[in-house]
Amino acid sequence: MKNDNNNVLNNDELFELIWPGKKDAISLANTPSSKNLILDTLDSFSKDGKKGSADSENMYIEGDNLDVLKLLKKDFLGKIKIIYIDPPYNTRKDTFAYNDDYSKSKKESKQETKDDNYINKNLKNSQRLHTDWLNMMYPRLILARELLSDDGVIFISIDDNEHANLKIICDEIFGEDNFISNFKWNRVKKAPSLSNSIRTKYEYILAYYKKNHFKLFGKASYNKQAPLWHLPNKKQMLTFPKKSIRVKNDFLKGYYGGSYQVELFDDLIYENGLNKNEVKIEACSAWGQEKILKYINEGKTFEIKKDLKTLYYDMDNKNNFIAPSDIINNEECSVKSNLEASKELNDLGIPFEYSKPTNLIEYLLNMVRVNDSSNIVLDFFSGSATTAHAVMKLNSEDNGRRKFIMVELPQCCNQKSKAFSEGYKNICEIGKERIRRAGEKIKGKMPILTHSLDIGFRVFKVDENCKN
Ligand SMILES: C[S@@+](CC[C@H](N)C(=O)[O-])C[C@H]1O[C@@H](n2cnc3c(N)ncnc32)[C@H](O)[C@@H]1O
Repeated sequence: MKNDNNNVLNNDELFELIWPGKKDAISLANTPSSKNLILDTLDSFSKDGKKGSADSENMYIEGDNLDVLKLLKKDFLGKIKIIYIDPPYNTRKDTFAYNDDYSKSKKESKQETKDDNYINKNLKNSQRLHTDWLNMMYPRLILARELLSDDGVIFISIDDNEHANLKIICDEIFGEDNFISNFKWNRVKKAPSLSNSIRTKYEYILAYYKKNHFKLFGKASYNKQAPLWHLPNKKQMLTFPKKSIRVKNDFLKGYYGGSYQVELFDDLIYENGLNKNEVKIEACSAWGQEKILKYINEGKTFEIKKDLKTLYYDMDNKNNFIAPSDIINNEECSVKSNLEASKELNDLGIPFEYSKPTNLIEYLLNMVRVNDSSNIVLDFFSGSATTAHAVMKLNSEDNGRRKFIMVELPQCCNQKSKAFSEGYKNICEIGKERIRRAGEKIKGKMPILTHSLDIGFRVFKVDENCKN
């Protein structure tokens, strides 16, 4: 292959993001785990929320998500419909309950830079800051892709610290063609006016399809009808059987014109609010003859409101939603900011900072209405388990049967955190308690409607394989 300067390009010089340890990160994803998932029945909660019973279809898994993702492959390869993750953003702050500093010590970095001659010296600093984070994320995203079903979708929350790197590695792993959007979520309504340079109000949610592309649902459309005539489609001759159009009067055959060049080839006779006879109409139409007949065979009718220049079809519930905007905020789609997330956790008495608002996750889950509402939803950086809360809430609202799998590291809470001062040993304790309290609250609000809602979870812990 030759480039513009007639230099021969080496096949190795493909466009990709490189960093020290990338090859190891890839092989790490392919190395099976030597560990096991052990069910802890005593720590589990039943479908109706009783401790010590393991009949729930939801799972709460304690362990490093790298091991867990590998172990989940056995039962869930290609079976997960939705993955939402909110990984550490590598903010390098040490006030979180969990570690959020993936920058390396200067000593380690110098050694690597010496060893890796392909790294340009002026990348030294960014290399130090980003390498460990990339090595942590890369194998996990490879495994996440394997777990997704062909009609699955992954959503990944991120902020400016690693957004650029995450976009490139996601393009590599999921494929640029499968990129859905870089949603911008309005994280804070009013950024503090004392901010040094920029008052950052948004963070991102990168979304990718696994393979099949389909319409995503945003907010409900107020329009119950949509016009059948459509530009720039070409004119076509269409037949409307008798009683397939709602009308208020007769129409004589003739050319009605307008931008859709509508022409009626038979007199349309009105009887009891419908066309008495079959009519042929030529116009620029959104639908062809086959789709029109299918619609009519489903028992539905079209409507002429004023004159033939406009003809409407009724939208069904499935189509009664508009595609989501790439902005997610209160004004566009009633999604709340992080203030709401803190309020929710305060109300539940759960000490965890920087959780996501439940209705943000609900909104994302609602975008993916693939066939049914019994999808498996996985969150392998689950923190305070907002995703589990969102799944239970959505199920309670639409009678769905979505199941959740939460994964979280049982790392000790940071000693500076509120959780530590309230006596929580580790973050899994926080997550499990949140699910329990949220489940009870949802049931308490609508006891009859949520009779069969599964608010329990089976607890699994990652254990070393027993070797003889
Ligand atoms: C930003 S928080 C997620 C917050 C969550 N979305 C919520 O609303 O509460 C990231 C979480 O990932 C967890 N985590 C980090 N590394 C992990 C790993 N290797 N395995 C499992 N969990 C991990 C951290 O302990 C932390 O709780």
